[in-house]
Amino acid sequence: MSRKLHIIVLVDATEISEEDPNFEAQPEVLTTEHNVIGTLRNLGNDVSVLGAVSDIGTIVTTLAEQKPDLVFNLTESFEGDRQLDKNIAALLEIVGVPFTGTGVAGLMLCRDKRLCKKLLSLHKIHVPRFLSLPSGRRIRVAKTVRYPLVVKPALEDSSEGISNASLVSNDVELEQRVNFIHERWEQPAIAEEYIEGLELYQSIMGNKRLAVLPLRECSFDSNGSNGPQLATYRVKWNEEYRKKWNVKFSFAELDPTTANKIGHICKRVYRILQLRDYGRIDLRLTPENEVVILEANPNPDLAYGEEVAEAAEKTGLVYDELIDRILHLALRRYK
Ligand SMILES: Nc1ncnc2c1ncn2[C@@H]1O[C@H](COP(=O)(O)OP(=O)(O)O)[C@@H](O)[C@H]1O
Ligand SMILES: [Mg+2]
Repeated sequence: MSRKLHIIVLVDATEISEEDPNFEAQPEVLTTEHNVIGTLRNLGNDVSVLGAVSDIGTIVTTLAEQKPDLVFNLTESFEGDRQLDKNIAALLEIVGVPFTGTGVAGLMLCRDKRLCKKLLSLHKIHVPRFLSLPSGRRIRVAKTVRYPLVVKPALEDSSEGISNASLVSNDVELEQRVNFIHERWEQPAIAEEYIEGLELYQSIMGNKRLAVLPLRECSFDSNGSNGPQLATYRVKWNEEYRKKWNVKFSFAELDPTTANKIGHICKRVYRILQLRDYGRIDLRLTPENEVVILEANPNPDLAYGEEVAEAAEKTGLVYDELIDRILHLALRRYK
């Protein structure tokens, strides 16, 4: 039995309800925060919850006064701005409190879908060729890049800004979607070559030594009809929509050689992009068996039933063990 720890769970301020600021009640629909906070309590830890509020003085004072053994970092944005996720990590680093997950460097490298792809290609890791399309510049499609392209906000995640219209096959469609991204998301767009193939998710845990978890797959089989080919926002978050188009999340069935190759490449990605404790790499496996990395997710969703938890459970690591493993991986980094 490990010693009782004082853990402060840091959450996005918008996740905190006035009626239940300490996440003590059990609502019908549990969020990631409920899952993790409830589990940390069940494990016997002394748990309090802190919101990443705009008044950062409150965060600093609380941490300095309470001196927790660990901050479990569930924040994804600051004041609704995802680009500031790294700044929260930076604040925790300055305060000097141990915290779970990726630090400021890794969060910065992974936030920009263009930057991480440049870095991975320098390391000879296969990523889609892409165009960087900031607003206010004329769109020039380089000869080296071929349609169809996938147009995305360069700085979001969780499939935000990704719909079937993101897949474009000519200059007119490209311009329309890029303009939409600039107006609606107020940030640069990235247009990547569409990679055909199996869509796979590789969860990884660890720091010095890395463990790859069983590969998950998202299959798009709409039986020849015009169903989604991308994990769009609706595919990710709308079960009815998935049913309608026969999109399924399941365990991938690959031969061991291919699975090992994917694991090996994804571990390299994890290290290059400085992920810590736990992460998930999204990729596609082409019909020619080529591994193409789509993105790396530091601090991926830890909700019960999400990709990381599903993959962990398959190896026998049930949910409370997963959360316990993550907090100890984090603590060990500070020893
Ligand atoms: N270049 C690409 N080729 C094929 N599919 C893509 C490509 N880029 C994105 N997608 C699809 O869109 C989904 C979301 O893209 P991703 O870059 O992972 O954004 P997010 O950070 O929002 O998850 C992917 O899981 C994949 O289904
Ligand atoms: Mg993704």
